[in-house]
Amino acid sequence: MIEQALRKSSASDRWQDYVIAQRWDAFSAEDHAVWDILFERQVDARGTRIVAPFLDGLDLLHLSKPGIPDLAELNTKLLPKTGWRTVAVPGLVPDHIFFAMLSERVFPIGNFIRTRAQLDYLDEPDCFHDIFGHVPMLSDPEQARLMEHVGKLGLAAIARGHGEIVARIYWYSVEFGLSREDGQVKIYGAGLASSFGEFGVSLDDEAVERRRFSIAEAASTPYENDHMQPLYFISDGASEVAAQICAIDAAARDALAAPPR
Ligand SMILES: [Fe+2]
Repeated sequence: MIEQALRKSSASDRWQDYVIAQRWDAFSAEDHAVWDILFERQVDARGTRIVAPFLDGLDLLHLSKPGIPDLAELNTKLLPKTGWRTVAVPGLVPDHIFFAMLSERVFPIGNFIRTRAQLDYLDEPDCFHDIFGHVPMLSDPEQARLMEHVGKLGLAAIARGHGEIVARIYWYSVEFGLSREDGQVKIYGAGLASSFGEFGVSLDDEAVERRRFSIAEAASTPYENDHMQPLYFISDGASEVAAQICAIDAAARDALAAPPR
């Protein structure tokens, strides 16, 4: 995941070397029960306050077996929709690996789930965050395009030593973005969609700041990943974010990779 500090070196530069077998059968009954608790809580209590493409994509997660989705079966539903597929990884992957995966429409899923004692907070993304938060949106054509482009931009920015700029754009849109839909502010980002506590705070808490999304402002605003966000950007959803991100052509990509002023 890209919220980690950038790491310039790693054991391998091939994203394929980070992929592991999911081994769905190895998850315990307790692991599956935790998934079911998280899933039902998030859908039942908050479902209508998430953007429509997310709700449309949720059906992907209803598979033939209960509990944590079997990635092989999930991919048979996701791949035909947008060309995206999921792979299991042990946990956070280096940023250049993450962006390389995105650039090829591959999304990494941390192959573990939080415990019952960690239902409300976990300091690194588990499979509930990665699957529930991200996969429904990956079935949306605009989000699919946006995510691939972010991967390509991220690789270009890292090559120039400024990957954090693309990481910020990703953070303030794909992870913690809000979106205006039918005149209502709704959850758009995966980090919010998969968080019971921050879901409500981001929408309703008067103490947090909400600004209109702008790619330039997102790119130049640092973030911290170890507490709830004090600032959220409101876009018009995946179409607008995709339009702004995909408008960054090769020349502008070089400008993006320059240090923020
Ligand atoms: Fe995420």
